[in-house]
Amino acid sequence: MTRIRQFIQLKTELPGPNSRALIARREAAMPAGYGKATDIAVRRAHGALVEDVDGNVLIDFAGGIGVLNVGHTPPEVVAAIQSQAEAMIHVCGLVATTEPHVQLAEKLNAIAPISGAKKAMITNTGAEAVEQAIQIARVATGRQAIIAFEGAYHGRTLLTQTLTSKYALFKKGFGPFAPEVYRAPFPYLYRTAIGADLSEAQRVELVWEAFERFLVAHVMPEHVAAVIIEPVQGEGGFIPVPREFMRRLREICTRYGILLVVDEVQCGFARTGKLFAIQHYEVEPDIVVMAKSMGAGMPIAATVGRAEVMDKVHLGGLGGTYSGNPVACAAALQAIALIERDDLCTRAAYLGGIACERLKRMQERFALIGDVRGLGAMLAIEFVEDRASRRPLSPEKTVAVVRDLARNGVLAIRCGLYSNGLRFLFPLVIGEAQLHEGLDVVEETIERASR
Ligand SMILES: Cc1ncc(COP(=O)(O)O)c(C=O)c1O
Repeated sequence: MTRIRQFIQLKTELPGPNSRALIARREAAMPAGYGKATDIAVRRAHGALVEDVDGNVLIDFAGGIGVLNVGHTPPEVVAAIQSQAEAMIHVCGLVATTEPHVQLAEKLNAIAPISGAKKAMITNTGAEAVEQAIQIARVATGRQAIIAFEGAYHGRTLLTQTLTSKYALFKKGFGPFAPEVYRAPFPYLYRTAIGADLSEAQRVELVWEAFERFLVAHVMPEHVAAVIIEPVQGEGGFIPVPREFMRRLREICTRYGILLVVDEVQCGFARTGKLFAIQHYEVEPDIVVMAKSMGAGMPIAATVGRAEVMDKVHLGGLGGTYSGNPVACAAALQAIALIERDDLCTRAAYLGGIACERLKRMQERFALIGDVRGLGAMLAIEFVEDRASRRPLSPEKTVAVVRDLARNGVLAIRCGLYSNGLRFLFPLVIGEAQLHEGLDVVEETIERASR
């Protein structure tokens, strides 16, 4: 049955003939290992809507994997890019200084959730900014060991891939990995002590005990340069770190002179209802890593930290050909201005509330939905074969849900350590009616999958 939709406009079956043709060329021209969640080829996009190469209009719940908090092609960002490109596209921050680069560093220092003097090193991708944070932490502490968490995703360069968890998908065959990275248990409470009748606080206690044991069994805290953590684990399944766990982590870091690095690449820039997710906690990090929605789609990232830490690296130790590219900086300045002007933090909390309520109602209807979780507008559902044992739905069945969603006009992607989650990263400028229409499609799709 074809439903009348207000925003989703389907003129062909999906993927349509032009999408199929372009995908065939993509597959012939690009390596097989380069994955894609859907077989949709997109021609243009604006706000929360994308138009494919066959003229079909879809609602975007993937948001470029968390890049488009200010939506697709906001006119202010487009104008800033155009005007900066006309004046100068590139000079290289290692050769000369540009105003947008300096202005962005000043802005990031002003908004980063760290008190006191700060410095910002601007780079191109989340992985590069994470890698830089680790290098800076090692120099600043004179130590080498790094603690990362189970389920973490920090990127695909050698060091960040080492920090990343989820072996089969991200790491298979790519070793040997970088030394001195230690993997700690993460408070994934939905899968902690399954079947036991425990409160959330008791589950946190169990994971914390495991963390303390890890500090005895695997690495000496006195040897650790940094702990890196995503305040809301992204790829791992949109799992917010419990407040008490984060508080104790900060305490341990302070006690042993370890730097606390928060990776806000996916959860930052208003997604969770605060500019940075760590602002939901009463702790301050030493270094914050930013990327994705900072640039509204332009490749840009930053490592922002306490000035005395950031300044420890020797002259010439930091850099990169495109670091502080003025076009990307101009876009980021506008994107941040839009987040502030339109109070997208409040909007994220509001839209997240609407979406969460609907997803919880779906959870009551469909046994397939084991868990609904997240923070603000960073929401996911975790699919299970069986609610009691919490056995994860297979990745293949989850992919089938994602593909069915796309066929019906909603772009979304999966997540989770077991690849059994569906994540929601809709642009924060999405209209309420658009959000509901997209969620209608999600509900119908899960209903089909449940049959
Ligand atoms: C939390 C987190 N850190 C780092 C990265 C890596 O960022 P990039 O893909 O820009 O290198 C990602 C990407 O998804 C991420 O979600």
